Amino acid sequence: MPGTNSFDDVKATIVQTRRISSDVSIITLNCPSVAATAKPGNFVNVKVNSSTQPLLRRPFSIHNVQGNHIEIMVKSIGCGTALFCDSQEGSTVMTLGPLGTCFNITDYDFKTAILVSGGIGTAPMLFLERTLAAQGKKVINLIGGRTKEDLLAQNLSNCRFATDDGSTGLKGTVVDLLRNELTDIEKEGPIKLFACGPNPMLKAVAKFCNERHIACDVSLESVMGCGIGICYGCSVEINTPDGGIRTILLCREGPVIDAKLLVV
Ligand SMILES: Cc1cc2nc3c(=O)[nH]c(=O)nc-3n(C[C@H](O)[C@H](O)[C@H](O)COP(=O)(O)OP(=O)(O)OC[C@H]3O[C@@H](n4cnc5c(N)ncnc54)[C@H](O)[C@@H]3O)c2cc1C
Ligand code: FES
Repeated sequence: MPGTNSFDDVKATIVQTRRISSDVSIITLNCPSVAATAKPGNFVNVKVNSSTQPLLRRPFSIHNVQGNHIEIMVKSIGCGTALFCDSQEGSTVMTLGPLGTCFNITDYDFKTAILVSGGIGTAPMLFLERTLAAQGKKVINLIGGRTKEDLLAQNLSNCRFATDDGSTGLKGTVVDLLRNELTDIEKEGPIKLFACGPNPMLKAVAKFCNERHIACDVSLESVMGCGIGICYGCSVEINTPDGGIRTILLCREGPVIDAKLLVV
């Protein structure tokens, strides 16, 4: 669902950084213009420090919105994310957003939303869950990871888990968990799925949903540069309704797309 993208670049103050695991932090930014217009699934493109290293901004989903603040859940995997996680409270970062498409929560009248996520893909689910709950939807979180340390269920409700090593929840993938849980959930009325995680996981979720004609949005990842359609660094192939393939810029026509469009 297209967002109301604003390309304002604002100086956001880091209000708090809170480490929630060995490599994941929640960073709170005072960023009123983004907080006022963000929708679940949108992202921000952050210049994580003022030096030229790293040169490019880094994209992050909006994890939560509270008043003038946005929260970002950041997993440290390289130089940009490590610098961001180590930021001092009170310092500022240039923040562009909200960017990209958002989850489509109004396309049809579903009763239950199933939020399927893996690893750091759980980051956008808190904002989505709270928005759905405010609209009276029932929300169920299905969360997967390689091991229990990868599960990031901070503040989410109604969570069920799958881990590759069986250390928490079902031993298997989050799609195995979805298959197990679906029959009971479907008895309660119409459902829609919302998924975010590694692209192979999203392809498996999309294939599962498309075969069963279940409505599903997926939030994809790609390496990004500008975040606003200038650098062409985020091109991704998607299906067209007439059976063809076309290329989109994920920062403009994504990261959230209808699962039927994902090339699996
Ligand atoms: C729309 C969108 C939303 C995102 N939301 C979040 C979020 O909420 N929280 C979060 O922690 N991360 C999120 N990411 C991923 C995050 O942007 C990358 O982890 C970050 O850019 C890596 O920067 P770095 O300098 O630390 O790593 P680098 O040093 O640039 O790279 C380290 C390694 O990670 C790989 N890598 C870099 N970027 C990505 C990527 N986008 N996907 C997969 N592998 C990558 C590189 O190829 C390299 O192997 C999101 C990405 C996108 C596109
Ligand atoms: S990130 Fe530059 S065009 Fe998408």
